[in-house]
Amino acid sequence: MCVHLLTNSLTGWGVEPFQNAVYQIHSLGPVLPLIEWGFIFLPILFHGILGVVIIRSGRSNVKHYGYSANWRYAMQRASGMVALIFIFAHVFHLHGWFHVEPWLKYVAEPLGGAQFKPYNANSTLAQAFQVSWLIPILYVTGVAACVFHFANGLWTMGITWGVWISPKAQSRAGALCSGLGVGLFVVGLGAIVGVETTDVNEARQVENRMYEERTKDGSVLPNPEKLSGHGSTKEVVDAEGAIEARY
Ligand code: HEM
Repeated sequence: MCVHLLTNSLTGWGVEPFQNAVYQIHSLGPVLPLIEWGFIFLPILFHGILGVVIIRSGRSNVKHYGYSANWRYAMQRASGMVALIFIFAHVFHLHGWFHVEPWLKYVAEPLGGAQFKPYNANSTLAQAFQVSWLIPILYVTGVAACVFHFANGLWTMGITWGVWISPKAQSRAGALCSGLGVGLFVVGLGAIVGVETTDVNEARQVENRMYEERTKDGSVLPNPEKLSGHGSTKEVVDAEGAIEARY
């Protein structure tokens, strides 16, 4: 998540830095789905399922004990549930879950999923976000839940595993984890602002020029499936030259 939010915050620094980062990720080629499933999807599923089991066996006591630690216990569980739902929805929205043609064509794309096209990274991300004011609100909520869950979880993990034991050490670690959480949340907000303020047309032109140059010099293999306008998503250019996606 740290690397992911930092990468996405590049959208605030221009079309080229973000597109270059996405090219680098996709240069992994056929290894990429293995990494996605082995190191991202399956571990998140494992953590999510185990988390739900843990939540079902615990009891919140903030009604009787209003200490900050009791609140954090309840918030850790609530943020975990929000984060799990957000990640499911978010990965469907942009990635589509499974990159196999029938699934993408008949399920994901008609339902508004799989909207991110890696070789038109910034512009397709911006199209997916700018379609409604609800999207950035849902993303800010989701990012807040994920970041809180991560930062508070890191602190409690240190206690469970005996890394910070004394009250002084716990308080120092608490400050460090809070700082990390706030910093990461700001980075996430930066990513959302970067995407929301992207000019889709301008970004599309820069990305298409980069694609042409990279496929010519051989540093990127041509792959129309990773470009916008592929599949059931049709693009319409209106009289002012604005690009609009139609599903
Ligand atoms: C700041 C807002 C965010 C933006 C703009 C964003 C953007 C993206 C994009 C563009 C993809 C698709 C990558 C692809 O298909 O190649 C993606 C996938 C994903 N995102 Fe996010 N993301 C954000 C926040 C988060 C957060 C908070 C999490 C929590 C862990 C998260 C977890 C994931 C996961 C698990 C995937 C699938 C991994 C993959 O495709 O390799 N994202 N995100």
